[in-house]
Amino acid sequence: HEQLTPFPGDFLWGASTSAYQVEGGWDADGKGPSVIDIHMHRPEGVTDFTVAADHYHHYSEDVELFAELGLNAYRFSIAWTRIVPDGDGEMNPAGVAHYHRVIDELLAQGIEPVVTMYHFDLPAALDAKGGWSERATIDAFERYAQVLFQEYGSKVKFWLTINEQNMMILHGRAIGTTGRSGQVEGKELYQQNHHMFLAQARAMVLCHELLPEAKIGPAPNIVSVYPATCAPEDIIAADDWDAIRNLLYVDLSVRGSYHNLAWAYLCAKGWEPEILDGDLELLAAAKPDFLAFNYYSTQTVGASRGDSSDIQVRGGDQQVVRGEVGLYRAVKNEYLPVNAFGWEIDPVGFRTTMRRLWDRYRLPLIITENGLGAFDELVDGRVRDDYRIEFLKLHLEQIRLAISDGVEVFGYCPWTAIDLVSTHQGISKRYGFIYVDREEDALKDLARVRKDSFFWYQGVIASGGDSL
Ligand code: BG6
Repeated sequence: HEQLTPFPGDFLWGASTSAYQVEGGWDADGKGPSVIDIHMHRPEGVTDFTVAADHYHHYSEDVELFAELGLNAYRFSIAWTRIVPDGDGEMNPAGVAHYHRVIDELLAQGIEPVVTMYHFDLPAALDAKGGWSERATIDAFERYAQVLFQEYGSKVKFWLTINEQNMMILHGRAIGTTGRSGQVEGKELYQQNHHMFLAQARAMVLCHELLPEAKIGPAPNIVSVYPATCAPEDIIAADDWDAIRNLLYVDLSVRGSYHNLAWAYLCAKGWEPEILDGDLELLAAAKPDFLAFNYYSTQTVGASRGDSSDIQVRGGDQQVVRGEVGLYRAVKNEYLPVNAFGWEIDPVGFRTTMRRLWDRYRLPLIITENGLGAFDELVDGRVRDDYRIEFLKLHLEQIRLAISDGVEVFGYCPWTAIDLVSTHQGISKRYGFIYVDREEDALKDLARVRKDSFFWYQGVIASGGDSL
């Protein structure tokens, strides 16, 4: 492109967090336990989520810092168990009041709240009753959604239904999202998946009924795929992987139907969910207004060799990718560097992802996560995270290229606004623009320190992206 299209004037320059990873106060003011609180046992030396960044008590100070950073959007999640402690029983007025205060402070600072309704933290009480295996959990989610829309609907325009449903299904054990259902596999797991889509569909329909001005969409994790070579068998393998890993989830959210390759895969395994009368009609009736997605990396896959050599595991932890005998194997992409945790870094793949999503779904896109986990160090009051600046700069440039390609992108919320506890590697794996002074085991004073990336992003936002 000789001439790059500028970022739109109303672009949402944001940043992200999730409740259980940032808030702490896991049982404060009547909050009930979530599956994470109950089932997520930390490995030796890795912090739990009990205090996290203590954003629950520091939100006011934190929102002021977000305003100083220049954010005009903040993507965060509401903890279901603060609003309805046991998931389907009494409401907790103190929890409801908490998020009113957070939202009011954001709005007072000119920051648009972008609210995730459910980010991994299913109420433990629902899990004990069968969690997403039970259709009653769909009713509970709809009821919770109704409370959110009624309480906050006059203040919140952007709603995200379920964060990374695909990661919960494919990697629930590592993330600890599933509790009892962490033991669930195969047919029951995909039954849970089906129920979550029904819950999401009910929430989207309800949102449009109650809040005609609001916008709502899903937030899957998307990992675009490359075939290992141009061998036709590798193309087939890459398509299969894409269907099972990505398109199953986005098609159900946007088109309201099962992707044919994903469905064929489920049938071949004997894992196809039971679909009751009315399910498909509900899925088809629920239409998102936009597509949010989280992007960290891409994946390269080759055709199956038909034996156990297919089961290669690569990458770090949550991004762990396994091949599947008879279908595909994970391959290292020789063209891409990796971060400290083994995740391949692929800014150009980000542009590819935006192009493909726009091409397939024609829905406005917002990136609700993208970022670099690193072992930041606070030295003499400063965090020199030039590696993060480089990562974010390279990715923002690709958004601008995608916009110039004709893709509609309306916001960018990198992970994370402020340091928080990673899903299963503690707080020393940091992502924030703001450093939180604590170690895994030592809480210290939890002081907030602006990293170098804070000042860099501040400049980017102030220039509307022109300074990139
Ligand atoms: C996403 C999740 O999968 O990746 C976040 O939505 C998570 O909750 C983020 O923190 C980064 O992963 P990790 O494992 O480094 O925390």
